[in-house]
Amino acid sequence: MEFEHNVDLSRFNTLALPGRAAAYQKITGAGQLTVANDFAGRRFILGGGSNLVLNGDFDGLVLHMAIPGKRLVKEDGEAFYIEAGAGENWHDFVQWTLQQGWPGLENLSLIPGTVGAAPIQNIGAYGLEVGEMLHSVNAWDFKNQAFFTVDRNNCRFAYRDSLFKQEGWHLNGQIAITSVIFRLPKAWVVNTRYADVTQELAAQQIAAATAQDIAQAIIAVRQRKLPDPATIPNCGSFFHNPLVDSATAGRLKSAHPALPQYPQPAGRVKLAAGWLIEQAGWKGKRLGSVGMYEKQALVLVNHGGANGNDVQQTMAAVQADVTAQFGVALTPEPVFL
Ligand code: EPU
Repeated sequence: MEFEHNVDLSRFNTLALPGRAAAYQKITGAGQLTVANDFAGRRFILGGGSNLVLNGDFDGLVLHMAIPGKRLVKEDGEAFYIEAGAGENWHDFVQWTLQQGWPGLENLSLIPGTVGAAPIQNIGAYGLEVGEMLHSVNAWDFKNQAFFTVDRNNCRFAYRDSLFKQEGWHLNGQIAITSVIFRLPKAWVVNTRYADVTQELAAQQIAAATAQDIAQAIIAVRQRKLPDPATIPNCGSFFHNPLVDSATAGRLKSAHPALPQYPQPAGRVKLAAGWLIEQAGWKGKRLGSVGMYEKQALVLVNHGGANGNDVQQTMAAVQADVTAQFGVALTPEPVFL
């Protein structure tokens, strides 16, 4: 197999960080994945590159997932089952389901990236996580040279987490997700739990919102708060919202009554990392070419010319300041290559 060599990856990651792949292959069909057998070194499975920090050159093989396709697999009394290829653009896929009259994914409009990457970190926004609407995941196992399917119940979905992350399968290139099957219930329930969305609908004077209305409201909220990677390179939220125990949450509540806290199962509490970062003085602040976004402090941005090392320096500085001020550790959301 003749791979492409020394391929520029800066255009394939939304932080626009520099780096080259020793070998590169675009994958447009699942059957093509056996090409990896012809390469002895490390491999990395690349989707939309919207959750990636590239740390310079990669000495392995990059498999760029571009498997297309979207179709209704089946329909029963309760739900529509829709399969999409791993390489489909996530936002375009969501808008297509809405146009077909299959609501359910509207709250996840405008999230960058691909369908195949969505289950890995269980993408979520505005009161919905993709795992809630997923039926199963189809993948190729490079070691066993076989396709396999993981049903939703075995995906171990949690906040920005899944089996695919927990087992390290994604990071070490052990498997490649080839397609995802969604289960969209026919009994559609409007999900406007998130205040930003209800406020946007009220501002637009929409009373009984359709799924399309929700999608439009979310697109408007996201466009207002989050930078478009095409203009200001970024990879969305850079840190997880930290989960702390109730004692820590109580201590922080007394010291900082304005800190947004969201109660979770098992007595744990999720804290708003954006608030912590803003209070630590990082909203709109930069260290060299990398800073935290002026309208949303949780989003790290490349102001131009940054490399992976610059990103890690700003990341470490933000983490140190938040820990010093609040005693809370921030963990990064993206994958580091
Ligand atoms: N906040 C601040 N200052 C900031 C940013 C936020 O005080 O600079 C406060 C807000 O006022 C609000 C709270 O923090 O009270 C939460 O902020 P926001 O609603 O903007 O959401 P987030 O918690 O910062 C999370 C997800 C986003 C998702 C939004 C909406 C994570 C790590 N991030 O952000 O996901 O779009 O909720 O549901 O969970 C992503 O993962 O890339 C992403 C964009």
